[in-house]
Amino acid sequence: MHIHKYERLWLTIGCALLISFLIILAIQTLVFKSAPPSHLEMINPQEVYTTAPFDKPGVVKVGEKEYEATMIAFAFSFTPDEIVIPRGSKINFTITSPDVQHGFQVPNTTINAMIVPGQITKFSYVFDKPGEYIIICNEYCGAGHQLMMSRIIVE
Ligand code: CUA
Repeated sequence: MHIHKYERLWLTIGCALLISFLIILAIQTLVFKSAPPSHLEMINPQEVYTTAPFDKPGVVKVGEKEYEATMIAFAFSFTPDEIVIPRGSKINFTITSPDVQHGFQVPNTTINAMIVPGQITKFSYVFDKPGEYIIICNEYCGAGHQLMMSRIIVE
């Protein structure tokens, strides 16, 4: 079969790109252990309120300007409904939902996460600027969705 010169060139470039992408993917997966941020930690949504750490939701100081926030996003609020921290603090969030899918967005920050029942969402954020931050649910979750919010006060 005759393949035109340019067609062969493009096929070669295409295959080389494909192989290099697969190699990059393999290195990320096997060497750097990268994985999508889901299904890593699971929880039975029916047992959220009796399973640690969600049996004691709240904020605990764990270091110099570092806090662990264990939160539950439920229809139609967040527990705890207010977090007060000093400026420059880092919060390590651990969040789950006992009912339906919720959003966890804090405007004017890079925080925007999905809270999926059965899964535990974890991320960290450093609050450098003082002020009042609002946590809003940005996934439609039912009749009270637009009322679902909480506050982070950075002093
Ligand atoms: Cu929770 Cu919308």
